[in-house]
Amino acid sequence: MKKILVLGSTGQIGTALKNDLTKWCEVTFFNRNDLDFANIEPLNTKLKDLKPDFIINSAAYTNVDHAEEFIDKAFQVNSLAVEKLSKLANSIGAVLVHFSTDYVFDGKKNTPYAETEMPNPLSIYGKSKLEGEQFIEKNCSKFLILRTSGVISKNNDNFVSKIKKLAKTKKELSVINDQITTVNFSSYISKATSKIIQKIENNPDNENRWGIYHMSGSEPGSWFDFATYAQKMNKLSDPSSSFSQMKISPISSREFNQKAKRPKYSFLASDKLKINFGISLPNWKKSISEVIG
Ligand SMILES: NC(=O)c1ccc[n+]([C@@H]2O[C@H](COP(=O)([O-])OP(=O)(O)OC[C@H]3O[C@@H](n4cnc5c(N)ncnc54)[C@H](OP(=O)(O)O)[C@@H]3O)[C@@H](O)[C@H]2O)c1
Repeated sequence: MKKILVLGSTGQIGTALKNDLTKWCEVTFFNRNDLDFANIEPLNTKLKDLKPDFIINSAAYTNVDHAEEFIDKAFQVNSLAVEKLSKLANSIGAVLVHFSTDYVFDGKKNTPYAETEMPNPLSIYGKSKLEGEQFIEKNCSKFLILRTSGVISKNNDNFVSKIKKLAKTKKELSVINDQITTVNFSSYISKATSKIIQKIENNPDNENRWGIYHMSGSEPGSWFDFATYAQKMNKLSDPSSSFSQMKISPISSREFNQKAKRPKYSFLASDKLKINFGISLPNWKKSISEVIG
């Protein structure tokens, strides 16, 4: 039975992986107490004991606006720790599966981004995540970098949970309508990741599908689209709730003035994932329905 080590077990994707991996492999989950990315030196000894065949890194500094202020922390977790992790994974012959983001792109296009397109991040978060990717490409012979966007889930902190929470104290909410991306349910990402690993687990040494993959649903939308659809779904099950009653209005990025710059368009084309692994994610409406339902 293959051994898998998951880092970042308390996050949205890490939590979802608990459901999907435990069914078919021997898996160890590390949270921040088990391994703090501020200093990942102890991983060296832990890996010698665990000897994992696969390491999945779902830990990251994910607060895009805070990263503009806590620059060193963002780079430590998303880049420097990943440099060390990539070297350690390679030294024990483990496959490194790492998550990254659509925010590596500058959004100057208005058609879906393929893996072959040149990244040019606008934010500290995007820059730190891109640097992490580059360390993995340099240091690992067996790796998968899975870029996704707008992760949402039932419990953790995310776009849908935030707007629902805001509805408890606000009657009106302005939501950005000129940033085009998509949202993906954490469990869809986790199931797809689990399937990929099952497809390569038996013969990783003869595998030739290593590299960067975009992993996203098949339709783009704006944050305003996602918010209004989430409200529509919520009205079906809970019409009198504060979220169902809240007035949601569109606002431009310029007027909203977020601390970190985001791409105007960062929708990821996931054709390579479909072609190489036969895997595709459901669209954002399905993702939102799962989270609201
Ligand atoms: N969230 C999104 O919208 C989004 C979009 C595109 C790509 N992604 C990528 O997808 C991956 C997973 O995202 P997610 O939404 O699951 O993230 P998340 O819910 O924010 O979870 C992040 C995880 O990283 C851990 N972490 C943060 N700093 C750490 C440190 N210093 N040491 C050890 N662990 C630390 C957190 O631990 P604690 O619980 O202890 O804080 C948590 O387990 C990341 O690579 C992210 O860049 C996310």
